[in-house]
Amino acid sequence: MAKYELDKIVALCKRRGFIFPGSEIYGGLANTWDYGPYGVELKNNVKSAWWKANVYERDDILGMDASIIMNPRTWESSGHVASFADLLVDCKVCKKRFRKDQIKDKCPECGGNDFTQARAFNLMFKTTIGPVEDSRSTVYLRPETAQGMFVNFLNILDSRHPKLPFGLAQIGKAFRNEVTTGNFTFRTLEFEQMEIEYFVSPRDADRFYAEWAERRFQWYLDLGIKKDNLRKRQHEKEELAHYAQACTDIEYNFPFGWSELEGIANRTDFDLKQHSQASGKDMRFFDDATKERFYPYIIEPSGGVDRSVLAFLSDAYDEEKVKDDIRVVLRLSKELAPVKVAVLPLLKNRPEIVELAKRIAGQLKKYFVSVYDDTAAIGKLYRRQDEVGTLYCITVDVQSLEDKQVTVRHRDTMRQERIGIDKLTEYLKDKL
Ligand code: GAP
Repeated sequence: MAKYELDKIVALCKRRGFIFPGSEIYGGLANTWDYGPYGVELKNNVKSAWWKANVYERDDILGMDASIIMNPRTWESSGHVASFADLLVDCKVCKKRFRKDQIKDKCPECGGNDFTQARAFNLMFKTTIGPVEDSRSTVYLRPETAQGMFVNFLNILDSRHPKLPFGLAQIGKAFRNEVTTGNFTFRTLEFEQMEIEYFVSPRDADRFYAEWAERRFQWYLDLGIKKDNLRKRQHEKEELAHYAQACTDIEYNFPFGWSELEGIANRTDFDLKQHSQASGKDMRFFDDATKERFYPYIIEPSGGVDRSVLAFLSDAYDEEKVKDDIRVVLRLSKELAPVKVAVLPLLKNRPEIVELAKRIAGQLKKYFVSVYDDTAAIGKLYRRQDEVGTLYCITVDVQSLEDKQVTVRHRDTMRQERIGIDKLTEYLKDKL
C-alpha cells in the first residue's frame, strides 16, 4: 500500500483550496491553518458523520454546545491550572524551545546537546474580561470541550431526566499554547474537538470503556480509513492524564508515523467529584431503581476534527499512472467527499451545450453538493475533480442535445456510462 509524503498532501491542500497557512500574507503564524472552500466542506462532513453516528442514531446521547470561555474556577477544579502542562527545555545554543519528550539527546534544530533544566509550561491560553487587566478578570480559552459538559450535568438531569448510562456530545473549538511546530494540522493552537462524555454506573465502567474504544475504531473504518493504517494503543500508567484511570489511543499511520487520532479515557468520578466539591452543588446521580446516590464514572471518547480531516486526506490521497501521466485522486468516501457531482460541458463555445449543462447542474444542486465548471479542457477538468475527490463527473456533449443523454464518469475507476438526463437524479440518488 502506497504511503505518500506529507509535502504532497500539503501541496494538494494549498493548490486546490482545502487548507492554507494561517494569515499567510503576513508570513503566517506557526501552528495555525485556514480551511478553504473544499476544506470547510470536508470538515463539515466529518462533523456531520460524527454527530449522526453518536447523537441522531442513538437514544442515549444528547447534543450540547457550551461556551468557550467559562468561569475560571472550572479550570481550577478540573486540575488544568495545576497540571495541564508540558515539560519544556530551551536549547542553549540556538535558543529554541522544545517539549522535553520530543528531543532525544540532540536539539532538532541545531544538533546541539546543551539544554536548560525542564520547566512546566501551562498549555492554557489566558485572556481577560473587561477593560482592566487585573487578576480578577483573567479567564482561559478552553483547552478541551469536556468541561462544558461536566458543568451542565445537573442542568441536563433536571431538564431531560436521563437514566444511566447516558452521554453528552459536543463539537467545538479548543485552544492550546503548543510549542511543537511541523506536521501540518496535526498539532495546532486552535482546533476542534468531537467529544462524548458517557456517564455510567462505576460497576459498568470497564465494559463501556472497552465498547467505546471498539465503536470509535470502527467509525473510522466505516468512513473509509484503511484497516492497516489504524491501531489501538493502551496508555502506560505514567502517560495517563491527571484525570484518567485508563486510556486507549486510536492511532493513525500518518505520513510522519503512527500518532494519536483520538483517545478513549476512563475519567472515573474525578470530574463530577471535583466540580461538586468546588461548587458546593451535589452532582451525584440518584438511581430510582436501587435508591442509591453516587457519582457516575465517565467514559470519554475524545477526537480531533482537524486530525481526522488530516487522516482522511492522507488515507484518500493516491497517485496512479494513466497512459503517460500521473493521475492524483482523492479517494474519499461518499459521505466525506466535499463535492459529490461536477457537471462539465465538453465544448464551452457551444451555447446550447453550456445552457444544458448549467440547467442539469442547477437541478442536481437541489439534492447533492454539485458544481459546474467550464474553465478548462475536459481532460484538465477531470483531473481537477479527481484531485478534490468529486465522485461523479457528468459530461454534456453534442450528442446530449440529440439523444438527451450524458456521460457519467466514476472517480475511482474512470469508467464512463451514458445515462438519460431524465433518469440522472434518481441514478445519482441511488449511488449516493
Ligand atoms: N478531553 C480529553 C482531551 O482533550 P486530548 O487527548 O488532550 O484529550 C483529544 O485531546 C483529541 O483532541 C486528540 O486525540 C486530538 O485529536 C485532538 N487534539 C488535542 N490537541 C490538539 C492540537 N493541539 N491540535 C490538534 N488537535 C488536537
